[in-house]
Amino acid sequence: MITTKMEEALNEQVNAEFYSSYLYLSMSAYFVRKNLPGFAHWMFIQTQEEAAHALLFFNYVNERGGNTNLSAIAQPNADWESPIHVFEAVLAHEQMVTGLINNLMDVAIQEKDHTTNNRLQWFLKEQVEEEANATAILEQLKIVEGKGQGLLLLDRELQLRVFVNPLLPGGAV
Ligand code: FEO
Repeated sequence: MITTKMEEALNEQVNAEFYSSYLYLSMSAYFVRKNLPGFAHWMFIQTQEEAAHALLFFNYVNERGGNTNLSAIAQPNADWESPIHVFEAVLAHEQMVTGLINNLMDVAIQEKDHTTNNRLQWFLKEQVEEEANATAILEQLKIVEGKGQGLLLLDRELQLRVFVNPLLPGGAV
């Protein structure tokens, strides 16, 4: 059983993860409009990954005998100045999410909830990866100044991303 405080914090994270999914879906649509299918594909996988994060938290609240509370998802931005601006927004967003996971960990520690603490470790590791991926793509976009042949090469590379579903057995460990 989880405490009410922990339950509320985890439910807020379900919403934050679905918002992340929605934001990346909006970014995927942006790249479709810009005729950059590799970037659109990368964002579409990101969308699925974030929805999986939301479902992992949702399942966890249920497993611990808590009540899930699905609240309204905010409308994401729909347009950006350039691909560089998109990835600046991705990095800033992921840094914000890392802060949210850290806050959840603070609650778990305050509530002496060692099980949730243990569960959050995977998400902390995931955030290291998320920030590193966003930083790498942002820096590469800066190298090619976000345009021309370099942008098209990067688009081909991002097309190769494969979705690894953390909801599958052995995924989120
Ligand atoms: Fe679910 Fe990108 O954090």
